[in-house]
Amino acid sequence: MNTAAEFPILVDPVGGRPLTSVPRGLSAGNHTYPVIDGIPRLVPTSGGYAAAFGEQWNRWQRTQLDSYVGLPITRDRLTRCLGAELLGELANPNKTLDVCEAGCGAGRFTEVLLQMPAVRLTSVDLSSAVEASQRNCPQDGRYRIIQCDICKPPFEADAFDAVICLGAIQHTPNPESTIASLFSLVRPGGWLVIDHYAPSFAYWTKVTALLLRPVLKRLSPAARMQVCELLTSLFLPLHRAVRTVPLAQMALSRLSPLLTYYHAHPELAERHQREWALLDTHDSLTDWYKHLRTPSQILETLVRLGAEAIVVEPGGNGVEARCRKTK
Ligand SMILES: C[S@@+](CC[C@H](N)C(=O)[O-])C[C@H]1O[C@@H](n2cnc3c(N)ncnc32)[C@H](O)[C@@H]1O
Repeated sequence: MNTAAEFPILVDPVGGRPLTSVPRGLSAGNHTYPVIDGIPRLVPTSGGYAAAFGEQWNRWQRTQLDSYVGLPITRDRLTRCLGAELLGELANPNKTLDVCEAGCGAGRFTEVLLQMPAVRLTSVDLSSAVEASQRNCPQDGRYRIIQCDICKPPFEADAFDAVICLGAIQHTPNPESTIASLFSLVRPGGWLVIDHYAPSFAYWTKVTALLLRPVLKRLSPAARMQVCELLTSLFLPLHRAVRTVPLAQMALSRLSPLLTYYHAHPELAERHQREWALLDTHDSLTDWYKHLRTPSQILETLVRLGAEAIVVEPGGNGVEARCRKTK
């Protein structure tokens, strides 16, 4: 546990020297990084392979927040991934635990983490999603946001009691080195919580999505959004019509490029069904990297890193895993 009254220090991702405040920025030696709208920017503010995510989260900023849909969908997923022991630690009002949330997007997990009394949270993302996240959850004494690359994180080794990365690792260039980078940030005795896409029949038989993605991810941001709007207008009424007929639903999901939630979350109101379908169709057709890993591959990676108390389970978006760093 970090008992200091401050967040873990920021270091220069190039060279590792501590960053100190200068007018409108942070600096170490001859490297200076801007702080814009209160957010340190250790990578370019836009562009790069995660640009489509930035556009997406700024457009559908609140869509997947529990506070917006009025359902505990994100809380339930996070609770399952954390497991009872870590959840108990984060719920202890007499502790302060430094948590890093890697690849925070618009902050669907952030808002739930901030409700846990022990959490002092550092959320990071490579894209302009940090701006959406800040609008959803403004920074304060126990919550800060940083725009940076989790593969070159601006933190010292062993800086966090827990590192949580949900929905992001499959979108980085090399999942194994990303997991190693995240694990390096965990203090001895601390936790790493991750998930990953897994290969599946549903994925490999979603033919139109497989064909469309290489084209869509290369279009301009406006064109990508327009195509996803059009696809949603065309296909969502069909998904809605067959939502209670499992065989028809399964067949349509092979033909249609849409991701829909009539099956996984029938409790979502119709207007939320549309927003979630549009957002996740955009997400799944415009991500630059989409890696797949089996549970045994994730297990192998964690074993190779020397992790202990490893739990790897199929579930959620594919594989969910947590482990501890040896004390
Ligand atoms: C699918 S979104 C998930 C966001 C959020 N965790 C959620 O589940 O709603 C993936 C996020 O990972 C971020 N990301 C991708 N590569 C990253 C990297 N190298 N460092 C930090 N964030 C990254 C993207 O910008 C994007 O916001």
